Amino acid sequence: MEFYYQQNAHSLLEIPWNLSGELTPEEAIAISQSVKEFQAGENSEGKHLYQDAQKYSERTGDQDYILAIKMFIAEEQRHARDLARFPTLNKISLVKTTFTDVVFRKLRHLFGGLEISIAILITAEIIAKVYYAALREATKSKILIGLCDQILRDEVKHVQFQSEQLFKLRSNRNRLGLIWTMGLQRFLFFGTVFVVWLFHREVFLRGNFSFQRYWQACWQEFNETF
Ligand SMILES: [Fe+2]
Ligand SMILES: [Fe+2]
Repeated sequence: MEFYYQQNAHSLLEIPWNLSGELTPEEAIAISQSVKEFQAGENSEGKHLYQDAQKYSERTGDQDYILAIKMFIAEEQRHARDLARFPTLNKISLVKTTFTDVVFRKLRHLFGGLEISIAILITAEIIAKVYYAALREATKSKILIGLCDQILRDEVKHVQFQSEQLFKLRSNRNRLGLIWTMGLQRFLFFGTVFVVWLFHREVFLRGNFSFQRYWQACWQEFNETF
């Protein structure tokens, strides 16, 4: 996986930053709060993961994993950086934290460990695949379209990377344990899908995602992942 991240860093899409503030005032009002919240999410994704990954690496001697995690976090930070640059061009200020961030952090504190960290992270990343597809269609901004294309491309690999690790971590669990685990994973996903719709429905609706289409797209991504 670390080879993929190395390669990807050298083959990024060209984003037409020189177009600068292209949003119409109407578009800016419609999407800015939502983009700011996703930007904050991208920024915190991964930070907590690192410590858990380090402990796991020490325990198992899997040095490649810690390397891959580092590069994964670097990609998330690129997403956050690029997303931060976009509102700045359009004169929108940023936020530090969001409701879903706070809930996710509480969950992580309560349960802890690499598996929980990844289970939470993958929930956010699966829904992000649908969100950025909608955001791509939500305005006519070429910068935003380019940004969404790049993020969507990266997220495919992120979800794959995280699900492979989850599979590994859950591999010696018995049948009943696995049924429980997947039940909880579904429950977490179910709740998050609702909350994300509640806070970001304007972007989804502008991107031609009715609630029904959004719901189906999310669960299709979920089922393909697990
Ligand atoms: Fe991301
Ligand atoms: Fe990601």
